[in-house]
Amino acid sequence: HREDFKQGANMAIIGGTVLDYTNASLKFSAYDGSMNTQIDNFQQLLPSICGAQQNCEEYLAKSLFVFQLGENDYSIQLVNGSTVDEASKNIPKIVNTIIYGVEELIKLGAVDIVVSNIAPMGCFPLYLNMFESSNKSDYDKYGCLRNHNALFNRHNSFLRSSLSKLQMKHPHTRIMYADLASHIYQIVQDPRKFGESRQAC
Ligand SMILES: *[C@@H]1O[C@H](CO)[C@@H](O)[C@H](O)[C@H]1NC(C)=O
Ligand SMILES: *[C@@H]1O[C@H](CO)[C@@H](O)[C@H](O)[C@H]1NC(C)=O
Ligand SMILES: *[C@@H]1O[C@H](CO)[C@@H](O)[C@H](O)[C@H]1NC(C)=O
Repeated sequence: HREDFKQGANMAIIGGTVLDYTNASLKFSAYDGSMNTQIDNFQQLLPSICGAQQNCEEYLAKSLFVFQLGENDYSIQLVNGSTVDEASKNIPKIVNTIIYGVEELIKLGAVDIVVSNIAPMGCFPLYLNMFESSNKSDYDKYGCLRNHNALFNRHNSFLRSSLSKLQMKHPHTRIMYADLASHIYQIVQDPRKFGESRQAC
């Protein structure tokens, strides 16, 4: 059957990353694709949505774009055996690649772009199980892994300042930083209101 993507399309790939990896570069082979693959897929879809380039620029200028990625880049590295400090060295590369991706869409005509930060995954069951520690001071008062969340906070600060530079470079666009992390952290802090979120099924 023919899908109609005129009302929106989700280019997400399960486990998708910002950077390009290969199965061969990882200790496990479950790697499915990167932001570049998503952008390629999107560009291949465009002619069926808006036709010629000039029409597409106008169409995309009236569309909303949402970027929500980066989390899997850190999970892949940490699960593959990198320390938090080693993963931290890749923050600039990961964030600069997201910025590059946003600029690719601006070139195609995008104007309204939301870029989400990454969640405090040090509170997630996957992390709590994989990186369990017998040292109490590795946890914050909500039972989340302190060092891991510090890594994700550094990514988020770097992303936020990079996005404001990008906004200055492209004044005709509206680049919005979405603070997903605060919302998730709020859920973690208040299990009576939102339910227990740190336990795996
Ligand atoms: C994953 O771990 C292997 C073995 O230690 C290493 O050779 C490889 O570079 C790592 N890959 C990434 C992307 O960190
Ligand atoms: C990595 O391996 C998985 C499973 O073996 C496969 O489905 C996937 O397409 C591979 N990824 C890449 C980028 O080749
Ligand atoms: C626990 O972690 C703290 C802070 O990282 C460190 O200073 C301390 O030496 C650790 N304690 C043990 C028993 O490893």
